Amino acid sequence: MEDNLKIPNHVGIILDGNGRWAKQRNLPRSKGHYYGFKNLEKISKYIFDRGVNVLSVFAFSTENFKRSKEEVDYLMSLFAKGFKTFNQKYKDKIKIVFSGRRDLLPTDVLKSMDEVSKNCKQDSDKIINICINYGGHSEIIDAVKKINIDVLNNKLNLDDLDEEVFNHYLYNDLPPIDLMIRTSGEVRISNFMLWQLSYAELYFPKVHFPDFDEREFDKAIIEYNKRDRRFGGINYGDKNS
Ligand code: IPE
Ligand code: IPE
Ligand code: MG
Repeated sequence: MEDNLKIPNHVGIILDGNGRWAKQRNLPRSKGHYYGFKNLEKISKYIFDRGVNVLSVFAFSTENFKRSKEEVDYLMSLFAKGFKTFNQKYKDKIKIVFSGRRDLLPTDVLKSMDEVSKNCKQDSDKIINICINYGGHSEIIDAVKKINIDVLNNKLNLDDLDEEVFNHYLYNDLPPIDLMIRTSGEVRISNFMLWQLSYAELYFPKVHFPDFDEREFDKAIIEYNKRDRRFGGINYGDKNS
């Protein structure tokens, strides 16, 4: 791959299409989730090796609790084991953080999250943010509640509240997302990181997540490099402006 390509600082991925991937192979949906998680281990390493610093992945939405108990239970057992395996593999390299509400998550998943948060490499400049029981609306509401408490306790003056300060009250104080990828061809955001996505470039490959490999990520980077990011300004040197 060309070396002079711009690499996004923060990539967000909505890991979608596990169920359809399994269905196409006459497998139960759980197998799709299993191979999706395996793929996450592999592809995240590649993404960091390509120079990305922050990777946010949407693993389970607040809305996903609407699915059958069998599917939710399977996913939770996958998370309880999977986060630990992930950390063992990338212990010396990647800091792992989580975004989402803790309520409704089973104790073994919470235990695994706490263990991993404590034992992962704390001072790494490579961060994976795993969104679990996560919703973009909930994140904003939870931030507003924390702000209200700080205002009531005279820890924050409302006049000092700006975008930077607000960001600090989110589940994790992360930089904005530069490139958002949603696999499986669905062209929607589904409540993923609404605040952080404000100026992200959006990319919707057709491939289901278990098949989203190194080649697919390189394609996303090539597409990202074709985008003209203006942030509301005008690039006067650009022939399209
Ligand atoms: C994404 O795959 C994983 C989760 C939402 C947990 P899906 O399970 O949504 O797969 P499809 O969209 O049904 O194919
Ligand atoms: C979004 O995918 C949530 C995750 C990938 C975790 P869904 O499959 O749940 O989204 P919808 O229902 O198609 O919008
Ligand atoms: Mg889906």
